[in-house]
Amino acid sequence: MRTIDWVTAAARPDAASAGADDAGWIELIDQTALPGELRVLRIATVAELIAAIRSLAVRGAPALGVAGAFGVALAARQFAGDPAGLAAAVHEIETARPTAVNLARGVRRAAALLPGGSSAVLREAYAVRDEEVASSEAMAVRGADLVSELCGTRPRLLTHCNTGGLCTVTTGTALGVVGELHRRGALAGVIASETRPLMQGARLTAWELARWGVDFRVAVDSAGPFLMARGDVDAVILGADRICANGDVINKIGTYAHALGARRAGLPFIVVAPESTVDSDTPGGAAVEIEDRGAAEVTTLSDAVNPAFDVTPYDLVTAIVTDRRLIRLDRGDKP
Ligand code: MRU
Repeated sequence: MRTIDWVTAAARPDAASAGADDAGWIELIDQTALPGELRVLRIATVAELIAAIRSLAVRGAPALGVAGAFGVALAARQFAGDPAGLAAAVHEIETARPTAVNLARGVRRAAALLPGGSSAVLREAYAVRDEEVASSEAMAVRGADLVSELCGTRPRLLTHCNTGGLCTVTTGTALGVVGELHRRGALAGVIASETRPLMQGARLTAWELARWGVDFRVAVDSAGPFLMARGDVDAVILGADRICANGDVINKIGTYAHALGARRAGLPFIVVAPESTVDSDTPGGAAVEIEDRGAAEVTTLSDAVNPAFDVTPYDLVTAIVTDRRLIRLDRGDKP
């Protein structure tokens, strides 16, 4: 079997062209250890991959799709000659987290190649990865053009959660747009909301922006709408875990509050996500399972409710930028 060698490119810029041998493992950055430590996990079993997905060592919709596809290649190797074990392993990867459509999609794409053998599965996993790399690059350019069109020169952007190379493979979705604007000299700065309870903004977005040399500050989540109202922000830009047929956007908890703040302040609210996140089979946000991550991540002093994502109604979204389309929801377009 060829190497399953995948590391998000924030750690390994050559990852997109990683070579092949017989090792049979997945490498990925342990996002739970950042920003304190840049640790690379080497994952050799399905159980290890599922633990990495559930603990958010690997996270973010496109990265989950890529990890899931490579996970099927791992499963094909681990359960060779055991069809029932293989089917159960594939199902377990597919359902390891429920909300981002990319995970189940990546798994199903790779699993469809199982009759062709493990090398066919692995080829498909590499294709899923390479498509995400290309998507990120396309979104960065299209999104940067849109931000400049809507906001003029050197806007101040607010973003939520982490949407950089860590959550894709390289570049990112919304943060890829930020990086492109920065390269063009067309960005004044970024406010990253900290994204409680797991701090993807304060830990991961801040880490990526610092590496890119982007001028940024972190804000507590509840400050976002006030900063918009005060005139400190020119547009909100973030990613998605699923985009429904009616344009409803499922994304990290707190997104809806930022959309309300943007609407109140009259600011563009821009969602950047690959086509692999557009789910035309799901009519609207009410049909999506919102992951509940339990109380422990929030507090040990009392019980807690901990929905990991929320639904932002389509009529609060200005535009969705994908790798192939600009969908102007404010002008009546539909995904
Ligand atoms: O729980 P997470 O960290 O996996 O949630 C990730 C997000 O909500 C991101 O904003 C989303 O995946 C978009 S990034 C392409």
